[in-house]
Amino acid sequence: MTPEFPSACIFDLDGVICDTAKYHFHSWQIIAGTLDIQFDHAMNESLKGVSRVESLKLLLKWGNMQVSESRFNELLEKKNEHYIELISQMSPDEIFPGVLEFIQELKETGVLVALGSASKNARIVLKKLNITQLFDAIVDGRHVTESKPSPEVFLLAARKLSVSPEKCFVFEDASVGIQAAVSAGMRVIGIGDPKVLNGADFHLKGLDQLDLATFKRMIINLN
Ligand code: BG6
Ligand code: MG
Repeated sequence: MTPEFPSACIFDLDGVICDTAKYHFHSWQIIAGTLDIQFDHAMNESLKGVSRVESLKLLLKWGNMQVSESRFNELLEKKNEHYIELISQMSPDEIFPGVLEFIQELKETGVLVALGSASKNARIVLKKLNITQLFDAIVDGRHVTESKPSPEVFLLAARKLSVSPEKCFVFEDASVGIQAAVSAGMRVIGIGDPKVLNGADFHLKGLDQLDLATFKRMIINLN
């Protein structure tokens, strides 16, 4: 049987729609610096898609450090202050190439479009990029209790759209995000390095490699 064309596409934000990963990296680097923990791009890769709280826990683990609850919360706040300062300078020209065109094509064929992000700052970024109105549903870090790899964020997006999970396609750049989509029973396209993104149905360097016709061909080849 030919696999069905999806009724909905759910997009991660950071790393799929725009390069906020570099702003997360800079902000964590400052926090790591104050703690005297070495922090590099490979470590940042493991933080992709991971919630703020879980990210700080990992950073402290890598530095073999323990802090009090109040210090923990203070560090979280500081990280977010730096991050908000950076994203407040964002503008629509930071949307990755091909994103708007592909989403527009989906909408024109009647496919619903949702955001499924771990970030509590997703709304701010969408506003800065001037794309809030593109999404039929927005689920972000403020709506979920479990972070990726839990499927909660994607299942909630599907529920908001009234679409069953098997009719959804997810676009993700993080390993934990791919795991979340697979656990949700959804198809998933990994954006980035295929070596890091195990489990995705397809891999792309970016959405500029995809248009509706290519997407349809990909789906026909699914088993
Ligand atoms: C994800 C990012 O989208 O959001 C992670 O990939 C980040 O790096 C997480 O930690 C939470 O974001 P925020 O904005 O709530 O700190
Ligand atoms: Mg991401």
